Amino acid sequence: MAGSGLVRGAGAAVLNRLRGAAVVRPGFLSAAEQAVLSAELEPELRRRRYQYDHWDAAIHGFRETEKSRWSEASRAILQRVQAAAFGPEQTLLSAVHVLDLEPQGYIKPHVDSVKFCGDTIAGLSLLSPSVMRLVHTQEPGQWLELLLEPGSLYILRGSARYDFSHEILRDEESFFGEQRVPRGRRISVICRSLPEGTGPGRPEQPPPAC
Ligand code: OGA
Ligand code: MN
Repeated sequence: MAGSGLVRGAGAAVLNRLRGAAVVRPGFLSAAEQAVLSAELEPELRRRRYQYDHWDAAIHGFRETEKSRWSEASRAILQRVQAAAFGPEQTLLSAVHVLDLEPQGYIKPHVDSVKFCGDTIAGLSLLSPSVMRLVHTQEPGQWLELLLEPGSLYILRGSARYDFSHEILRDEESFFGEQRVPRGRRISVICRSLPEGTGPGRPEQPPPAC
């Protein structure tokens, strides 16, 4: 094992390989900013029911919304995310993905669709800490774990986004190394770049052949 702080990995090689591509920024949000986002999201989420999809679905015990209209205070936060995670040449999906996992909810390993999401994924975590695990799709021995505390920002870009699956561990498996990370309800606010070669107003491009 290697790594320290908020990122652990199978070894120095994978840590080096994903340096700059899988990043955690603890305390990105102040307590006040976390409260602003939670207060704005809570009424919208509460209208929805948690879903327990069938066996092959990637996410279990969740409700979600795609949000494009935000208060001024939240827009300022999202602009900070954009400045921290995305380059000036990147266009973001206009709607921000808000995902609410109940305490028993979890996300199975998956790679975000290249049809809908470009190079970069940036997520804010609220309420409960959780562990995100990345595993190389061709070399399962190459893995990374990210400890996502409330108020943190994670960024997955390039190889971390395309060549590694990501998942959020269920409560029973929620360990960061030896450290138990009990899972409660978790809300994530996820910004994604558009697939390269597409932009607002342009017709959707066919996904690259896999
Ligand atoms: C997803 C996903 C991670 C998160 O919705 O595709 O991987 O932080 N979410 O909730
Ligand atoms: Mn994902």
